[in-house]
Amino acid sequence: MEKHQGKQGVVIVADCDHPSIDIEKSVLEGVASEVRWLACKTEDEIIAQCGDGDGIIIQYAPMTRRVLEQLPRCRIIARYGVGVDTVDLAAASDRGIVVSNVPDYGTHEVSDHALAMMLCLTRKVPMASAQIKRGQWDFRLMHPVHRHQVQTIGIVGLGRIGRAMAHKTHALGMKVVGYDPYVKPADLPEYISLLPLEAVLAQSDVVSVHCPLTETTRNMLDEPMLRLMKPSAYLVNTARGCIVDEVALDKLLTEKKLAGAAMDVLAAEPGPASHPLFRHENFYCTPHMAWHSEESAQELKRKAAEEVRRVLRGEAPMYQVNKF
Ligand SMILES: NC(=O)c1ccc[n+]([C@@H]2O[C@H](COP(=O)([O-])OP(=O)(O)OC[C@H]3O[C@@H](n4cnc5c(N)ncnc54)[C@H](O)[C@@H]3O)[C@@H](O)[C@H]2O)c1
Repeated sequence: MEKHQGKQGVVIVADCDHPSIDIEKSVLEGVASEVRWLACKTEDEIIAQCGDGDGIIIQYAPMTRRVLEQLPRCRIIARYGVGVDTVDLAAASDRGIVVSNVPDYGTHEVSDHALAMMLCLTRKVPMASAQIKRGQWDFRLMHPVHRHQVQTIGIVGLGRIGRAMAHKTHALGMKVVGYDPYVKPADLPEYISLLPLEAVLAQSDVVSVHCPLTETTRNMLDEPMLRLMKPSAYLVNTARGCIVDEVALDKLLTEKKLAGAAMDVLAAEPGPASHPLFRHENFYCTPHMAWHSEESAQELKRKAAEEVRRVLRGEAPMYQVNKF
């Protein structure tokens, strides 16, 4: 017991698929009496194993009202990542629990990944490479390919990542239009034109999704919305799977009403090999890795643990997302 004197709480990493939690342990040294690393997937597992946590760090673990009601000591839930859609924010606020994310660790990585996905679609690199490996060395099989300088990118969600994507695609010479009901034109660089969502979808040669998953954005790109896009247009989604209706997307790709799509995120992850979208040659998918680089992974872990350290020390949190 002696060695825990002056320490301020139990910190539980409820789930995390990282190779170690050494960074978190070093940040929490002197503040946490214990840093416990678990692999909770279900509500029942969290309830059974995290009841003594003063600070809880999560990756995908579902923090529902039912779970939160059974965490009597919890003062902070820190999420590794930006999206906090797995946490019932209202329930956390009701119980005075700070919910925090790490909003800025992967802005460059995600926008680079969205750009890479866009370029795979527009320059047809994976498709051309696959043709060559099948013995077909013929660029005409890749028609049509268009010059980016005459194309329009439509960005849905103009926060950190959306603006970084706007900056990068503007640098390619693309016209940039965007939809975000919460930003004003004055907040944006002059090269971004704010338009209604319908107009963004109808005008863009590439639509890139960068809004959070909320009750408003869930299925926001449903069949009628996707049908507003040009048949020659591409869709890129590095935000959250449930924002795009996958059944509708499958239908449009099958009907050739869209030229292709690329997603880093699916409604249900991991996506099974039998996923209907995977049979389309013009559909690309990556395993929710847009955020990742060696550097961003370390920054994410450090910042999540620093936020827990602040709250356990009684300091103001830096990245609180809920209000109470
Ligand atoms: N694939 C990955 O690895 C990965 C990594 C990080 C973030 N993400 C996703 O990217 C999203 C964006 O991240 P960010 O750092 O830019 O967040 P951010 O909070 O800086 O920006 C989100 C923007 O979306 C806007 N928005 C909210 N509701 C909207 C709506 N109905 N329609 C259009 N726009 C709306 C907000 O006003 C805000 O400007 C996150 O919520 C997360 O889900 C994915």
